Amino acid sequence: MSDSSDRLPRHVGIIMDGNGRWAMERGLRREHGHSKGADAVRRVVRASRRIGLDALTLFAFSSQNWDRPPREVFHLMHLLRRYLIEERAEILDNGIRLTTVGDIQRLPRMVLRPLTELMEASAHNREMVLCLALSYGGRETIASAARDVARAVARGDIDPESVDAELFGRFLPTSELLPPLDLLIRTSGERRISNFFLWEVAYAELHFSEALWPDFGEPELWNALNDYANRERRFGLTSAQIKAQLEERELPGRPALSGVVADPLVEPGH
Ligand code: FPP
Repeated sequence: MSDSSDRLPRHVGIIMDGNGRWAMERGLRREHGHSKGADAVRRVVRASRRIGLDALTLFAFSSQNWDRPPREVFHLMHLLRRYLIEERAEILDNGIRLTTVGDIQRLPRMVLRPLTELMEASAHNREMVLCLALSYGGRETIASAARDVARAVARGDIDPESVDAELFGRFLPTSELLPPLDLLIRTSGERRISNFFLWEVAYAELHFSEALWPDFGEPELWNALNDYANRERRFGLTSAQIKAQLEERELPGRPALSGVVADPLVEPGH
């Protein structure tokens, strides 16, 4: 019998934390930790595509990160630009669709230009969605959706009595772009959500890794996936109800973890 415990998550979100500590532990500037963090991004995106996740969201820059020292913000923007330019071919060759959540209009033009260009160029890709949360805040996003709902009510397009969780959720950017969040990973031993996917996390499983983000790679990702595979997701029901449901029908499907065959990645130029 197949059950939910041997399944891959469809959508994994990662709060990439610990770049600063990684650098300070080595007597280096925080920026050095972010550069190593960008290497970890490359590794984890590659591994996620190979493993067969449908979607990966990386919390790369929060609404609050704008208040970091200007030198650090500049370095992060520069890393983002470099990532978008250097990974462009691999993203396109591997059928990855790049998308974003967050207030990307706040990003400098040097990032916004390659970002929107790659979003457009990859829009028809179907193998995996890579979502970068940029200038993103969970509360800010919910407030913005609430404004949109209020406008729709004011126009008479929506009856206020019909605003329930299902309808409200449709006003969030994630509803169109991404499958429901199944697994949220946070690195560096911290156990907070830090204004990430506040709405989307409702029924996600949480995995906290002790690794600092620059040290995170495929083994740590597998650790999280195996942890997820051993959770029973009940969505507010009882364990017995879930077991009965699973016996009745095959849940819409992800391959069993043990059955995952690594897809060879296409490297640019091959
Ligand atoms: C948190 O670590 C990390 C960030 C605020 C930025 C994450 C950015 C990257 C991983 C690199 C660039 C991203 C891409 C997509 C190329 P922290 O600085 O808060 O670490 P600390 O808690 O140890 O100080």
